[in-house]
Amino acid sequence: MDYHHCCSLILGLTSFLLISFSTADDAAIMAKLSTSISPTPSTWYGNNFCEWKGIACDSFGFVVTINLSHMSLNGTLPSDLHSLRNLRTLALQGNSLSGPLPTLSNLAFLEQVMLDGNNFTSIPSDLFYGLTILQIFSISDNSHLSPWSLPNDLINSTNLRTFQANQANIYGTIPDIFGSLLYLQNLSLSYNNLTGSLPASFGGSQIINLRLDNQLQGLSGTLDVLSSMTQLSQVWLKGNAFTGAIPDLSECTELSDLQLGDNQLTGLVTDSIMSLPKLAYINLQNNKLQGPVPVFGSVTLDINLQNNSFCLDKPGKCDAQVTALLEVAGALGYPMSMAESWLGDDACDGRWDFVVCNSNNSVTSVNFAKQNFSGTISPAFGNLTSLRMLSLNDNNLTGSIPEVLTSLPDLQLLDVSNNNLSGPVPVFPTRVKFSSDNNNLLSGKPIPNHKINPSRVEFSAGLVIGIVISGVIFVIVVVMFVSNKCYRVNPSKLQSKISVDHSEIPSSKSGNLMISVQVLQQVTDNFSDEKVLGRGGFGVVYKGEFDDGTKIAVKRMKTGMKETKGMNEFEVEIAVLTKVRHRHLVALLGYCANDNERLLVYEYMPQGTLSQHLFKWREQKSLPLSWKQRVSIALDVGRGVEYLHSLAQQSFIHRDLKPANILLGDDMRAKVADFGLVKNAPDGKYSIETRLAGTFGYMAPEYSAAGRVTTKVDVYSFGVVLMQLITGRKALDETMPYESCQLAAWFRRVPVTKENMVKYVDKALDTNDNETLESIFKVAELAKHCTTREPFHRPDMGYVVNILRPLFEQWKPLRQEQENTYYRRHMSLSQALQADDNTSSTIDVFQPNSF
Ligand SMILES: *[C@@H]1O[C@H](CO)[C@@H](O)[C@H](O)[C@H]1NC(C)=O
Ligand SMILES: *[C@@H]1O[C@H](CO)[C@@H](O)[C@H](O)[C@H]1NC(C)=O
Ligand SMILES: *[C@@H]1O[C@H](CO)[C@@H](O)[C@H](O)[C@H]1NC(C)=O
Ligand SMILES: *[C@@H]1O[C@H](CO)[C@@H](O)[C@H](O)[C@H]1NC(C)=O
Ligand SMILES: *[C@@H]1O[C@H](CO)[C@@H](O)[C@H](O)[C@H]1NC(C)=O
Ligand SMILES: *[C@@H]1O[C@H](CO)[C@@H](O)[C@H](O)[C@H]1NC(C)=O
Ligand SMILES: *[C@@H]1O[C@H](CO)[C@@H](O)[C@H](O)[C@H]1NC(C)=O
Ligand SMILES: *[C@@H]1O[C@H](CO)[C@@H](O)[C@H](O)[C@H]1NC(C)=O
Ligand SMILES: *[C@@H]1O[C@H](CO)[C@@H](O)[C@H](O)[C@H]1NC(C)=O
Ligand SMILES: *[C@@H]1O[C@H](CO)[C@@H](O)[C@H](O)[C@H]1NC(C)=O
Ligand SMILES: *[C@@H]1O[C@H](CO)[C@@H](O)[C@H](O)[C@H]1NC(C)=O
Ligand SMILES: *[C@@H]1O[C@H](CO)[C@@H](O)[C@H](O)[C@H]1NC(C)=O
Repeated sequence: MDYHHCCSLILGLTSFLLISFSTADDAAIMAKLSTSISPTPSTWYGNNFCEWKGIACDSFGFVVTINLSHMSLNGTLPSDLHSLRNLRTLALQGNSLSGPLPTLSNLAFLEQVMLDGNNFTSIPSDLFYGLTILQIFSISDNSHLSPWSLPNDLINSTNLRTFQANQANIYGTIPDIFGSLLYLQNLSLSYNNLTGSLPASFGGSQIINLRLDNQLQGLSGTLDVLSSMTQLSQVWLKGNAFTGAIPDLSECTELSDLQLGDNQLTGLVTDSIMSLPKLAYINLQNNKLQGPVPVFGSVTLDINLQNNSFCLDKPGKCDAQVTALLEVAGALGYPMSMAESWLGDDACDGRWDFVVCNSNNSVTSVNFAKQNFSGTISPAFGNLTSLRMLSLNDNNLTGSIPEVLTSLPDLQLLDVSNNNLSGPVPVFPTRVKFSSDNNNLLSGKPIPNHKINPSRVEFSAGLVIGIVISGVIFVIVVVMFVSNKCYRVNPSKLQSKISVDHSEIPSSKSGNLMISVQVLQQVTDNFSDEKVLGRGGFGVVYKGEFDDGTKIAVKRMKTGMKETKGMNEFEVEIAVLTKVRHRHLVALLGYCANDNERLLVYEYMPQGTLSQHLFKWREQKSLPLSWKQRVSIALDVGRGVEYLHSLAQQSFIHRDLKPANILLGDDMRAKVADFGLVKNAPDGKYSIETRLAGTFGYMAPEYSAAGRVTTKVDVYSFGVVLMQLITGRKALDETMPYESCQLAAWFRRVPVTKENMVKYVDKALDTNDNETLESIFKVAELAKHCTTREPFHRPDMGYVVNILRPLFEQWKPLRQEQENTYYRRHMSLSQALQADDNTSSTIDVFQPNSF
């Protein structure tokens, strides 16, 4: 025997042994199967299982087919079924088989598995492992399966054509494996508990029939991937939680059946859907689709569009303002918040969130601040020609600022700060207050032509907000500046120019306190980062400390800004500032500027802002304010504002009262800061404000809608501050549902009685004693009174102070010492400043005096 011969013999023997071993194996499993199912089919007896009904074997006697479909069988399957190594078809659908489904792993020849309509109880985790030529797998209608998720192992079943598992208790996400399943045409997973988004790999797949409808919790995310699934014929996605707009489906020319009902879809139904040539069934009901009612071009058999947010109830164009606003929404990806409140064809019917109109039903204000919107700024804003205020700040907007915004004739405020905008900054007319801070990609930093909206200026711990004179200071710098020196402004000269009553003007008595830039550099450690108290749109505020421990707040303006406003206005501002001296108004101590530096000096308020104490006390590891402290703060603020309003002959309106502009000393007594928006008020009459400014959430309705400004706008804002002291809530809280996100509107709606007060009161407050509750109740009533819709129904600040004073009186003894503290601080500051008298740059420090 030669070597070769020998080898063949051994091989032959081996394969014979292997075969006989394996067929014996098949026989054992078939015997088990015959006893585990019932009733056992009548032909299933004897050893020759290849002859049994429903069984087919190959020429070696291995089982290749088990077809027991629709035979009313009950019972279970043997656990070692996967030892039938040559099995190609397993068809068990339409029975009542129960128990665990045995694994089919490593059945390398398995092509078809049909298990629908049984009562299996569980799926093995390695079910699909190594099933490389599997083409059909279906296990629909096995509703008692214990929850299972789609295994990643399917990625190797690259021959899969059909995968059906409707109502099979699947949970979890759809794995992103479809890039490998290039032959998959039918994917049907309806009535399960799938979550997550449509996988991106759907994009390159050949799926024709896609059924993922009626998930328990719902698939979510957008439908965008559908636009690249160009083979699609049937798309059933209803009963999920999909959001965003229906994507452009113009490439999906085979689409005939589109079921998208019962989702959260928003946006317009575009022509790309309406003109699909083969569309026969379309269901879009119960979404939030917007714009005109769609009209379908093809011969459509079944249309369901009910219950959406279309502008009209029949086909037709939407109103021009509505059209423009929808385009605006589109650039933001049609956020749900708009789709839910922007109903009907009248943007000015009062229901539309974010939008304020004037009495002519023209949109005057759009406020998207802090909504976490992504997307771009639509040029369609340019079609809202009455727009005065546009707040887009604190979002995630990209793209450029449309040039068309510069031609809006009434625009006064445009805030795009804190976004991710890019491109050039258009040049706005000087009337427009424009802020674009914190957009790293904008090229060519803008030239602010007015004070930044101080509402954006938030500071950290202990400081004085320094926007008292704010940007306008630069005019004096430009005009009066010579060499490296700062010249003192004589306030009385300025005041004479604007003809105010001189007897009312506190003149700077000892007056000429001077301080050099160098000294300010020194006390702030050369403006070191460690000394930063806060950052705002116009610059950085530093804490300065003299050797003797005296502290000041130094605001260092950003350089490179140009001031384009007139001199006159600057003079008015200085005059106002020198007039408003009061123990509850923060004082500007002076300023200084040279070529490179513009510095403002304020008294230092060690406890920072009221908003920190109301909203951030946990993070700052401080105690929440007690009710006593809150009443005392309210009274202090009330007194400060009363003073502003009631100066003889002339009264001033703060216009931006809010917790961020209320500063606290160590004694927790309050001062109003930030007079950057202070306005001269014509007594009793409305003044139509040309430059709207302030902060949403605190603005009186007549002011935000029509720009009418009287002292009553401060009373309104003060009422909102009272509500905040009571509830500890933000004026605009995006985390709250829409009906309660605006504090003032919500608070005015809730019925306030002593009994139900407790529910609304800040949880940080101790409300156990009756006295406190009584006091809170009175302040709540006052807050409602102050925020009455009609300005003339609101009380004046004198009345407010009279209500608050007795509530505070209980704690009067506290007050005496606190007033002393106040003056001591000022003395040492003045001395410190005086010590620097002989330096080159000068600063005008106004004497604090006692109003
Ligand atoms: C299973 O058998 C039924 C009839 O008994 C037949 O109609 C069906 O086509 C078979 N299925 C497969 C996959 O062979
Ligand atoms: C299976 O069916 C037989 C009759 O066909 C019945 O006697 C038996 O109780 C059933 N078994 C189960 C577990 O339902
Ligand atoms: C399926 O099995 C469950 C228990 O797992 C049982 O309650 C139910 O009656 C069964 N359904 C059918 C149709 O046999
Ligand atoms: C797919 O097959 C490859 C090679 O055949 C193997 O390495 C991999 O583990 C398999 N992956 C899964 C998820 O089964
Ligand atoms: C996909 O499903 C349809 C209808 O259920 C069927 O007619 C078609 O043959 C299936 N295609 C494949 C590749 O299994
Ligand atoms: C659906 O799936 C989620 C998680 O994906 C799970 O929390 C929830 O309990 C499931 N619901 C049911 C009824 O199984
Ligand atoms: C429309 O939607 C509302 C709220 O989602 C629902 O209560 C109502 O049943 C829906 N109407 C129809 C006709 O589906
Ligand atoms: C904006 O106005 C222009 C010119 O009046 C018009 O062509 C365009 O369609 C309008 N766009 C929107 C979104 O209303
Ligand atoms: C309303 O329209 C009239 C006429 O067009 C105009 O004179 C008036 O100024 C408008 N009022 C407002 C508040 O825009
Ligand atoms: C803002 O939106 C992003 C996605 O666009 C989301 O991940 C994030 O949680 C959102 N943040 C807030 C505060 O809603
Ligand atoms: C901002 O938008 C970009 C792109 O639109 C997105 O990738 C990013 O996650 C968003 N960031 C936040 C915080 O929402
Ligand atoms: C702004 O865009 C850049 C680049 O597109 C990105 O890296 C950055 O995360 C974005 N910032 C925010 C806050 O989304």
